[in-house]
Amino acid sequence: MLILGIETSCDETAASVVKNGIDILSNVISSSLKYHRKFGGVVPEIATRHHVENIDNVINCSLHDAGIDIRDIDALAVTDGPGLMGSLLTGISCAKAMSYCLNKPLIAVDHLKAHIYSAIMVKDGPKFPFIGLVISGGHTRLYLVEDFDKFKLLGDTVDDAVGEAYDKVAKILGLGYPGGPVIDALAKKGNMDAIRFTCKAVNNSLDFSFSGIKTAVLYYVSKQKPCPSSMGTPRNQKADIAASFQESALKVIVENSIKAIEKYNIKSFVVGGGVSANSRLRKMMQREAMYRGFKVYFPPFDLCSDNASMVAGLAYRLYKKGKRASLEITANI
Ligand code: KG4
Ligand code: ZN
Repeated sequence: MLILGIETSCDETAASVVKNGIDILSNVISSSLKYHRKFGGVVPEIATRHHVENIDNVINCSLHDAGIDIRDIDALAVTDGPGLMGSLLTGISCAKAMSYCLNKPLIAVDHLKAHIYSAIMVKDGPKFPFIGLVISGGHTRLYLVEDFDKFKLLGDTVDDAVGEAYDKVAKILGLGYPGGPVIDALAKKGNMDAIRFTCKAVNNSLDFSFSGIKTAVLYYVSKQKPCPSSMGTPRNQKADIAASFQESALKVIVENSIKAIEKYNIKSFVVGGGVSANSRLRKMMQREAMYRGFKVYFPPFDLCSDNASMVAGLAYRLYKKGKRASLEITANI
């Protein structure tokens, strides 16, 4: 079964053709990232305009790359949330129009669940139940996943998402946007024990909070002498700050994940979202998995950030469970 997936929840306009939930025939992504850089974050209006201007081309390219005609598609899948209202509506309107004109079923897919699915688009995926972790620019969530359509929320961030904390710390250090990849790389050259930035689970629960650590980094940087401005912080000191921040932020993610895995006596742990590309987190989680005897699944690097393959892939599983979306659907921001 061939599903055309469409993803426009944030700043990536993406379309993908996936066969039977796992075989990616095409994966086309047009990002508006470069237009947001000078603002230090995603500007919703710019993102929406980029989607409107590019979605036709992106879909045509994905059909072309897959070597199929639009009439060969068996169903349409689209991200219906969470995300930016204008961005989501562009993809949803396009998918609805195609579903109507082609008379093919439409499946609505949750962006966060699709991120988790991106790590298990393989033949021998984990057995249910497993613990799923979404770590992205907008979310930090732990789920107990009992089936492709049964996600129980166990933990969430009470303020900033972890990716957002990376982006803000990078901004404080004058490292540009997005901050995750550059902090990941810089931290390798720094001493993670140099500075104590605390980051703890909220009230011993499975919830997270990352705004405190971001503020701690801001205070630390502004107190530095002789150059109080972030731009003036020497490079080796920035590396120590990056490494110390990262270690503390990731430690709480690993600790809460282990708590969830042990609480539910789970054998598999699945991670998705932009921050799942982080090299230090992958090492930390793999070490825990070996030591504690569970299996950990990370997405391939090209599926860590926003893409439509994860949407088309999860849609296949939902389709098999009888899920269909009506032409009345709208964005769930
Ligand atoms: O999933 P994603 O592409 O978009 C959202 O749905 O939010 O995630 C983007 C986030 C950004 O905050 C970015 O800084 C972060 O993922 N990110 C990373 C890395 N690569 C991207 N964070 C830490 N380490 C990385 N290597
Ligand atoms: Zn995402």
